[in-house]
Amino acid sequence: MGDDIKLDLDARFEHARDVIRHAGERAMEYFDGTAGDLEVEAKENPLDMVSIADKNVEAIIRDQIGDSFPEDGFLGEEMGIEKGDNDCLWVIDPIDGTACFVNQMPSWCISIGLVVKGKIELALIYQPVGDELFTAKRGEGAFVNGEPIKASDVKTVGDGPMGLGMSHRTTSDAITPFIKDLLDRKGIFMRNGSGALSMAYAAAGRLIGYYEPHINPWDCMAGILLMQEAGGWANDYLGVPNALEDGAPILTAGPNVAEELRCMTGVSK
Ligand code: IPD
Ligand code: CA
Ligand code: CA
Repeated sequence: MGDDIKLDLDARFEHARDVIRHAGERAMEYFDGTAGDLEVEAKENPLDMVSIADKNVEAIIRDQIGDSFPEDGFLGEEMGIEKGDNDCLWVIDPIDGTACFVNQMPSWCISIGLVVKGKIELALIYQPVGDELFTAKRGEGAFVNGEPIKASDVKTVGDGPMGLGMSHRTTSDAITPFIKDLLDRKGIFMRNGSGALSMAYAAAGRLIGYYEPHINPWDCMAGILLMQEAGGWANDYLGVPNALEDGAPILTAGPNVAEELRCMTGVSK
């Protein structure tokens, strides 16, 4: 990568770090009620919700990044795709874990990934309640609040908690065989309601990995790079045809359990 592009990525990273913290402050005002009552609507089913906070936080992120980098494109959960005039695509989930957010549980976060020519270059996941900012630049390691993080080095799936996600975009039989197999191997699963935050926790070695049979790009773009930069494995999500439009399965894993989890999930590359 040429020095000019590298410098641009550094500038984009610095700016995105300020933007995500600012967006987090705004989201917290909705979470703690200082911004007034939260208006909540159901999307396609009652458990798939969107609040006024999701919409406003995405608008803040797009405006602030767009002011500094007007040629960049955006793909966000609430406002969809807006193509840019260059190769930079910011992939944004303004609130991941909306069901937790609207029900006063702390496991929600803001997720921002930057994709350039099919590669994830920057990752930022911010969990405002715990004030934890997970970051990665491709080739430069992964961090939480500036401290390096590392994927779990456990040897088998029975040695640590595995993050799981599920939605009604797939049927129950997409996940139940995996849960049975995991339990039979003396493993255990955790679902905290935020795929992005779980993926950040997996990159930090708190979970041994993360699996979800179908996930949208805004949920996982940052989490994939975080895991790769933390020394773990992630499937080639962007290599799945139309993943940015339609979503795809996600599997991330600590290096020593990646093969076992690939066999168990069938997510092999
Ligand atoms: C959802 C959460 C959930 C995951 C779903 C996502 P949302 O995102 O990340 O944990 O299992 O696939 O859709 O609706 O809270 O932004
Ligand atoms: Ca989400
Ligand atoms: Ca969301």
